[in-house]
Amino acid sequence: MKSFLLGFITAFVLIVAVAAAIIYSGNAPLSAASAETPFLDWLFHTSYEKALERHAQAIQVPGQMDTQPQLFDGARSFADMCSGCHIPPGAGETPFSQGLKPAPPKLVDIMRERTPEEAFWVLDNGIHFTGMPAIGETHDDQQLWAMVEFLDRAKTMNAEDYQRIVEMARAAQPESDHGHGHDHAH
Ligand code: HEC
Repeated sequence: MKSFLLGFITAFVLIVAVAAAIIYSGNAPLSAASAETPFLDWLFHTSYEKALERHAQAIQVPGQMDTQPQLFDGARSFADMCSGCHIPPGAGETPFSQGLKPAPPKLVDIMRERTPEEAFWVLDNGIHFTGMPAIGETHDDQQLWAMVEFLDRAKTMNAEDYQRIVEMARAAQPESDHGHGHDHAH
């Protein structure tokens, strides 16, 4: 028992020492450019999946989704804030979509593996250690659900569908009073 404990402590100290050596020597693998970092990718991705599963359980989709004003609100928000990273159908790559690691999923792929509850949590909180911002810092729940609704609809959109819905959404609410949502609360 004693030698087991001693071995355990030695191993622990060694791991901490190696980690500290890597960090303080400036060799931590932080470049988003080329290097493959399978261990870090696994660490972050698995932590993310597990945290998302857990947090999403506490979230409830509001009763009234899927209305046209909501969908339009989501479409405008997406076009304004998200389309530079999450490339919509028919649009080309951007420096963000090409330079971020992990890469942002394309618009049509975002909801492939996500429930609305999970997507809401991601929007509200962002994802640490990636480029995904916490939109909930600046937008209320109603606005976030509007974006979730739009993302969900976007699964089956082609370039034409996307362009049409963004145009219609912009026409429905002129740019000047794009005051983020409170104007059409019934
Ligand atoms: C600066 C770039 C950037 C912007 C802007 C951005 N995202 Fe993201 N987003 C990311 C990245 C990178 C990921 C992937 C993180 C990962 O794979 O771990 C992500 C992930 C997500 C996910 C989770 C997808 C999944 O499969 O887990 C959702 C949902 C999402 N973004 C929605 C949005 C919406 C909606 C907006 C606009 C309000 C937005 N994002 C703006 C970079 C961005």
